[in-house]
Amino acid sequence: MEKELLLRMEKKLKKISDDEIFCVYIDFPFCRSKCDYCIYKSISYKDGLNKREEYVEAVKEQLKIFKILFEIKIPDSIYFGGGTPSLWSTDELDYIVDSINNYNLIKMKKSEAHPYDLNDERIKYYAEKLNLDVISLGVQSFDKNACIGQNRIWVDKDSIKHIVSEFHKYDVKVNIDLVALFNGDEEEDWKIFEEDMNIVCNEIKPDIITSIPNYKTKLVYLEQLPRFRSILKEYVGDIYFPAGSKMLSLNYEDIKKYGENDHWIATKDYWIFQDSNVRYSSSHPSPKCPPKQITLSFGGAGNHVVYSYISSDNYVVYSAYNFEKHKFDYFDNHIINNS
Ligand SMILES: C[S@@+](CC[C@H](N)C(=O)[O-])C[C@H]1O[C@@H](n2cnc3c(N)ncnc32)[C@H](O)[C@@H]1O
Ligand code: SF4
Repeated sequence: MEKELLLRMEKKLKKISDDEIFCVYIDFPFCRSKCDYCIYKSISYKDGLNKREEYVEAVKEQLKIFKILFEIKIPDSIYFGGGTPSLWSTDELDYIVDSINNYNLIKMKKSEAHPYDLNDERIKYYAEKLNLDVISLGVQSFDKNACIGQNRIWVDKDSIKHIVSEFHKYDVKVNIDLVALFNGDEEEDWKIFEEDMNIVCNEIKPDIITSIPNYKTKLVYLEQLPRFRSILKEYVGDIYFPAGSKMLSLNYEDIKKYGENDHWIATKDYWIFQDSNVRYSSSHPSPKCPPKQITLSFGGAGNHVVYSYISSDNYVVYSAYNFEKHKFDYFDNHIINNS
């Protein structure tokens, strides 16, 4: 399967057309500890660090096999996702960067990070060596008790403010992820989300804010979304703007049409930057293949699988490292519906 994927990618990239993009996704499937609310199937360091070293070596081997593709085509985007990709060491990231021909010519370079992992030295590394365009910080909530309630490592808002201003010094754009109703369904949890929005928009001031209704609470029900959206709306119109008018509509038909999941508000500059840049395959690539996209994914482990795809061929491969067999499992699957 590895060989098949390589051959198909090679063939495709040799005749890629101008309107198709080539994305690279690199997965770090581990987290320091598991947060209760999280929907990802990442692996906790608490279950043993021995797997980490085995995984890193396996990804390096994958890079050796697939790096020939970067001689054919410089990727349009690269995305470091997870799990928690800020747990890669800088030596390991050096190895990845040095394996990719003309890494610095990749137009869109983005990583996720847990704010707990970011000191000034790491920020400098991300800006100068990884040359990131965008960093996405998993904040979820500024409320200490809400984070403790979800077993989430909490970082205080002054530290997060410092991280954002440091990235801005290097001209790296910052996204902050917030989860609405992070620690429950009660009235108190709504108040915490309101306060989180207040802090992020008025004190932290990132370029983009991704607010996500907690999939594990009643916010998944349509009736709750107008209240959630009304809170977002209070912060729109001055510095921050939504992706489109439907995104913050309170009308049920519009909500259904737009979708109920992530809501993004961003500065005008960010929207201009995004519109003039390329898409990327994000955390972790979905089994549904976006049109006109070739995505090569590295890593994944256990149940935290990743997807590679060649949309024009309706070809999808999902893969993950298997710690029992000490090798990557690859499965291919021809998709029926492109999204
Ligand atoms: C891979 S994680 C982010 C990186 C890093 N591990 C961290 O936690 O900071 C991607 C995002 O998925 C979102 N997420 C996970 N579980 C969720 C849930 N139950 N409801 C809504 N969003 C969720 C979180 O906002 C999280 O930042
Ligand atoms: S939210 Fe982030 S750190 Fe927490 S378990 Fe999920 S991926 Fe790991």
